[in-house]
Amino acid sequence: MTPSSTPSPEGSAKPARELWGTRWGFVLAAVGSAVGLGNMWRFSYIAAEGGGAAFLLLYIVMIALLGIPLMLCELTVGRKTHLSPIGALRELGGKGWVPLGLLFVLTGFLILSYYSVIAGWTLRYAAEAATVGFAPDAGAHFGEIAAGGSAVAWHLGFMVLTIAIVMVGVQKGIERAALVLMPSLMLIILGLAVWAFFLEGSAEGYAFYLMPDVGELMDTTVLVQATGQALFSLSLGMGAMLTFASYLSRDTDLNQEAVTISFADFGVAFAAGLVVFPVIFALGLQDSVTESTVGALFISLPGAFVEMGAAGRIIGLLFFVALGVGAITSAISLLEVVTSSMIDEFGIGRRNAAIGVGILIGIVGIFSALNTDFLGLVDAIAGDLFLVLGGLAMAIFVGWIMKADPAQELARGAGEGFKVIIPTVLFLIRFVLPPVIAIVLFFSLQNSWIEVRAFFGLG
Ligand code: TRP
Repeated sequence: MTPSSTPSPEGSAKPARELWGTRWGFVLAAVGSAVGLGNMWRFSYIAAEGGGAAFLLLYIVMIALLGIPLMLCELTVGRKTHLSPIGALRELGGKGWVPLGLLFVLTGFLILSYYSVIAGWTLRYAAEAATVGFAPDAGAHFGEIAAGGSAVAWHLGFMVLTIAIVMVGVQKGIERAALVLMPSLMLIILGLAVWAFFLEGSAEGYAFYLMPDVGELMDTTVLVQATGQALFSLSLGMGAMLTFASYLSRDTDLNQEAVTISFADFGVAFAAGLVVFPVIFALGLQDSVTESTVGALFISLPGAFVEMGAAGRIIGLLFFVALGVGAITSAISLLEVVTSSMIDEFGIGRRNAAIGVGILIGIVGIFSALNTDFLGLVDAIAGDLFLVLGGLAMAIFVGWIMKADPAQELARGAGEGFKVIIPTVLFLIRFVLPPVIAIVLFFSLQNSWIEVRAFFGLG
């Protein structure tokens, strides 16, 4: 990203590294990366597939148990090295860890390729709200626009926007826009949640979302998806948070930041569920949602906006514009990981790197824009499997491998309250994360294999 330029404090042999201007520069960018389509679109689609409440419960556990410690792993390595992922892993782990950096880059590449397609749907809905209004039959409408020529066009439009921002620098335009639009997004969601509460028939939605079915808690698919979603939503497992932390000065309290970011991110997702599920059940949209879980959000919300009449059109417009902004601040962080690696590893200029990489991602994304099953497949592989793999490797790296004392790094700048829990965090990173994530990885592999076979029609 483009933090304001203050010379690197170490005065070592390394070239001066730009730093964030203020603490809020970092927190805002990190929250901007975390809060995005993952909190609305992916959260509601995965939660719908995972039986609602069972998923939600495991999701909360995974954020606390794995998400926050893993975020601390990435933040530690980034702040310690002041380098982007490949260089950081090389410095603290040696050449053998470069492949992990490459996996991060590949993962960012693949996620952005379909993320941009969904962002394209978002922009399209915003444009429709502004011009012709929401289609009365949201399910049918989504079926028409989700894949095909126009989906390709909106996807490429979104990529151009993302490339333009990463190319030029982000701080002024996007951070300011995010500062205004992200709180409005929150307000709109909360307002919608209140509105949904009074809908006739919403009770069933709450039951689905908030009352876990014990049988489903034992379902490994739900466990895998809750873990994958926690990593995805917190932007973990591919070096995005690492990259942002590389612009941090020495004295920030990483523990405080990790907790702030995780809470903000969870809050938005939870509130989104409080809108989506009551609406789905109150408007009887269960069928169209089961047919296209990928489209759960894009079917349920427009349905609600139509019900609300003229006011719904305005609220809906605001909603999709704000969601589009959330998508852009996240897409930037995905492209930034790939771009900064190109810059650091090959000495390519920022502008050329962003354009070159962006065009390639745009091309690969066309496949997802033409076929929602393919989109779901890439999401299952890059958005679940690869993130889990990356998270596992990161935990092992920080807990056991890196040539720096993680406890000391975590303690630097930490408040007294957090200093006390550092041994616990370290215990989690060393002894709990690796086996737990390894188990999830095993099931995740199985899952992805099933998805691959299903996609190719092998049953
Ligand atoms: N967290 C973002 C979202 O929820 C998406 C995202 C941005 C991401 N950067 C990432 C996901 C890095 C995984 C890794 O929409």
